[in-house]
Amino acid sequence: MEQHNKDQAIHFVIDGKKVEGKLGETIIQVADRYGIYIPRFCYHPRLTVAANCRMCLVQVNDHGKTQPACHAEITEGMSVATRSSATRESQKSVMEFLLLNHPLDCPVCDQGGQCDLQDIAMSHGKGVSRYGFEKRAITSDHLGALVSTDMTRCIHCTRCVRFGTEVAGIPELGTVGRGEDVRIKTYLGHALTSELSGNMIDVCPVGALTARPTRYQGRSWAFKNHASYAAHDAMMSHVYVHTQGDECGDHVHVKRVVPRACESVNQVWLSDRDRFSYLGLGHEDRLKVPMIRDGKQWKEVGWDVALSLVAEKIKQTVKTHGPESIGALVSPSVTLEEAFLCQKLLHGLDCFNMDFRQHQVDTLYMDNAEDDAVLTHFTMDDLATDAVMILLGCQIREELPIAAMRVRQAVRSGLQVVSINPVTYTHHFSCADEVTICGDAMLSFMGECVLSLAHFVDHTLSASWKKLLTSVTRSKRSDRVAKKMLKGSGYFVFGMYAQSHPRASTLYRLAQMAVALTQMRLVQLQPGTNAFGLRAIGFGPSQRFGKMHSMMGQSAHEMYQSGKQLFLLHGVEPEYDSYDPALAVCALTEAQTVVAMTSFVSKAMLEYADVLLPIASWTEFSGTWVSAAGELCSLSAVKALAGQSKSAWKVYRVLGNLLKLKGFSYHDIAQLRRDIPLLSEGLTIEPSRLCADAIQPPASRDFVPVVDTLHPLVRIGELP
Ligand code: SF4
Ligand code: SF4
Ligand code: FES
Repeated sequence: MEQHNKDQAIHFVIDGKKVEGKLGETIIQVADRYGIYIPRFCYHPRLTVAANCRMCLVQVNDHGKTQPACHAEITEGMSVATRSSATRESQKSVMEFLLLNHPLDCPVCDQGGQCDLQDIAMSHGKGVSRYGFEKRAITSDHLGALVSTDMTRCIHCTRCVRFGTEVAGIPELGTVGRGEDVRIKTYLGHALTSELSGNMIDVCPVGALTARPTRYQGRSWAFKNHASYAAHDAMMSHVYVHTQGDECGDHVHVKRVVPRACESVNQVWLSDRDRFSYLGLGHEDRLKVPMIRDGKQWKEVGWDVALSLVAEKIKQTVKTHGPESIGALVSPSVTLEEAFLCQKLLHGLDCFNMDFRQHQVDTLYMDNAEDDAVLTHFTMDDLATDAVMILLGCQIREELPIAAMRVRQAVRSGLQVVSINPVTYTHHFSCADEVTICGDAMLSFMGECVLSLAHFVDHTLSASWKKLLTSVTRSKRSDRVAKKMLKGSGYFVFGMYAQSHPRASTLYRLAQMAVALTQMRLVQLQPGTNAFGLRAIGFGPSQRFGKMHSMMGQSAHEMYQSGKQLFLLHGVEPEYDSYDPALAVCALTEAQTVVAMTSFVSKAMLEYADVLLPIASWTEFSGTWVSAAGELCSLSAVKALAGQSKSAWKVYRVLGNLLKLKGFSYHDIAQLRRDIPLLSEGLTIEPSRLCADAIQPPASRDFVPVVDTLHPLVRIGELP
């Protein structure tokens, strides 16, 4: 019998054209590749085949009976007709059937103008209906604040159901009833909970599921399309921002954000926070005018007054208390251009107190890094070929929803995930192993893992490592995890909880040692969009001399601990964004001057700040971010600035000039970019492989083995 393999080429004909496919492919897949259009509703290239709408019926081998192209596999020598009379008759009949109960209320339907049903009814429909009876109407479920429902328009293609089960990992919608009574609903009548729920709007081919926040607010043909990047995490999903308004830009509003296909990042999906957060752009908390404190009152002033005051305060502080009495705390989401100028301004003052790591208390392992391991890139395509992944203190679904979605895909094709976390999180993929452990017990467990790994790979630990680990012993649990880690290559993710651990440097060193004994890659996934970029340009209190780093200033936590005379805040709300919010607010309240460059004002900010400078928010500024995968992402402003706000780099430029510092006379952002080596030379970081013999153990005073049961009460701070 003839043997077949999946790469075997199959030759056949579609509409008289010779085409080639691979064994196992369906007719619609090959037709799409050759640009031959076959109408469809239930077929979606990213979901399993349901073949329930029958819209894709095509004639095969001149048989009178047509076959669904999304389900029929190709065979050698077959002949497919997508426009024969039998095909057209089948498609017209299916279209007529789908429209039997459809309300066809296109003028009041948000999907109008972007609706597959509308388009296909025009191109493949009959034009008239023979159905003269009453149409059915459905009471829609309330699916929450994001997805609006008009289930009378539903054609039961089940794309939304399959999306929930296959991609989001939460089967929230299902099909109930039969025949005339069939309907799509949540079984228990609750709102959608998935962090990816907005994608159901995209996959729905009709107006049954639409975006609630933009309901009746615009027509798709009136929107202008702008390619951009999502602002919430270092995955930097590719998006299109849709705006509406006059061409001059004064009244341009962001109307929606939708995914921009990028196979290596978000594929065709988007997280809800990336999709809907544009709603905050017009929030009432937006700061639109510079303001200064006048006693207990706030008064609006012009930019010249506000910036002169800030420059004067900086000069006075440097003169009276020295440059080390100034501290700058910036958001990890600021652009490279902004961070570069902030750093230049502080260096010009001879000050090195600057940080973007608001949630971390022990940052020494980053500040004193002797290699670039902390900059290892996280490339999601690797997950498909990796054997194992360790999540150490990482709640991946909340921290990086798109990465979690890719991990789920990889798990379905064999990736083994081990979750070592302070809480037994509800992952939407099955873990090969889960260890729930927190506080210093996490350090002890990593010590056990090092011992287990050394045992399994027959590595003799140095005397200093042995001495450090004398008080811990291999356990069944650490043996289990070590065996998983030795399954092959993969990412060892040093997550948010691990980074904000009070002994993060010790934990990191143990993780380095464990990784060095395996084929894994150690990667830090820091919160904030541009954390990788800020690390790459050396933004922070340490300075690099050759291969070594040296601490020249203070980290964010140290600044709050020691107190400063003048704080410069850029895009941060320390009352939320800090490792210890109470300490941060206390330090800010006690400071002589607090200058906040911000897009939004909080109540707390009105208490501790002295000057408020309104800066551009996402979609309003141009700049560059670096993704976790090392991609340089260039953003352009797509809407007008809110009120009198300005791009932050321009604020630094004026401040630098007012302070008479050198190198702030940039005409435009292009000139500024030429000064940033990372942008002119590109990102060329190739972390060296960790070598177990070269890794020094952490200080023994920082490694205090504890049994987790001795610490029944541990504070676990998660990011809001
Ligand atoms: Fe018209 Fe499509 Fe809306 Fe139906 S779903 S009413 S065909 S726009
Ligand atoms: Fe299909 Fe939309 Fe109905 Fe879901 S709601 S089954 S996606 S038509
Ligand atoms: Fe083929 Fe629905 S697209 S049956």
